[in-house]
Amino acid sequence: MRDRAVYSWRNGWFRWSVVSLVVFTVLCVLVGFVWLPSVHKDFTAQNLWDAICRAAGVPAHWSSGSDVKTGPASTDVVLERRMVRMTDTAAVGRGATLALNCTMCHGAQGMSTSDAPNLSGQYPEVVIKQLLDYKAGRRSHTLMETLARNMSQRDIEDLAAYYAYLPKARTAPTTYDESLPALVRVGDPLRNIAPCISCHGGVDQKLGAPWIEGMPKDYLVEQLKAFKTGARRNDSQGQMRNMARPMSEQEIAEVAEFYARKASAGQRH
Ligand code: HEC
Ligand code: HEC
Repeated sequence: MRDRAVYSWRNGWFRWSVVSLVVFTVLCVLVGFVWLPSVHKDFTAQNLWDAICRAAGVPAHWSSGSDVKTGPASTDVVLERRMVRMTDTAAVGRGATLALNCTMCHGAQGMSTSDAPNLSGQYPEVVIKQLLDYKAGRRSHTLMETLARNMSQRDIEDLAAYYAYLPKARTAPTTYDESLPALVRVGDPLRNIAPCISCHGGVDQKLGAPWIEGMPKDYLVEQLKAFKTGARRNDSQGQMRNMARPMSEQEIAEVAEFYARKASAGQRH
């Protein structure tokens, strides 16, 4: 009889010891699985669940697609509104001369005929950021890294001014329309995919989000896959990696096809 009273919830000591045991356990789990791993330099978990899985040793691709651990560090370029300002005509002229080295791949007027990205009309802050990332080895591509390494800050700004100045041979950014593919128009809230047009123009143009309409399809597919696997990680705060990670190969092909096709539609007019 007396024993039963000891293990009763009405016993203050018993209640206290159960509650403190639970609190202590939760604290230990948080410290061991979340706080300690998060102080490690290579901490890449996106949320609490990821952090717990990682600390428990669950292979990353079980929980969150394959996150490549090796590869360049993410970007350290800070985007500034200042970059958007169109510079003087002298800068455009200098940029045009420098751009003679780029026509072989990016096309005479910045419209690529190969699988290199189009640069015609690209937002200047995008060209500046990407070239700085190649220069610092934050976005990997052997040739572009070599070229960028030899560019001064001024060369980079002048090239950006020149490409921004070029007549926009491409279609204007997508406008909201019921017929757009679902991922482009509304994303997929259940998988945390935001609509492409909320950053890439259409509804909103986020600073640093490239103009992707009319880019070669293979280039778009390649970039989305690189974000998905983490091979490309120069997007600040993993903005694109978070979008691409849950996307299937087929969805990647679909959105790439959609954005690539915008070019031919525009050129017909
Ligand atoms: C031999 C071909 C080649 C030459 C020459 C070349 N590029 Fe590139 N460039 C590429 C390829 C391919 C990519 C995409 C690489 C990747 O996957 O990261 C690229 C990417 C870029 C990007 C990133 C664009 C974006 O939308 O993210 C910029 C900016 C750029 N190049 C500027 C230049 C400039 C400026 C020059 C001349 C000084 C130049 N490139 C010369 C092939 C070339
Ligand atoms: C939260 C904003 C955001 C959303 C939503 C978003 N993007 Fe992006 N995207 C960016 C930013 C910012 C970059 C530039 C990353 C960097 O700095 O290298 C980018 C880069 C890209 C690139 C690489 C282009 C290049 O030339 O380097 C592609 C392709 C792309 N996004 C496609 C998409 C598609 C398709 C969707 C919709 C499924 C999408 N993005 C949704 C912000 C976004």
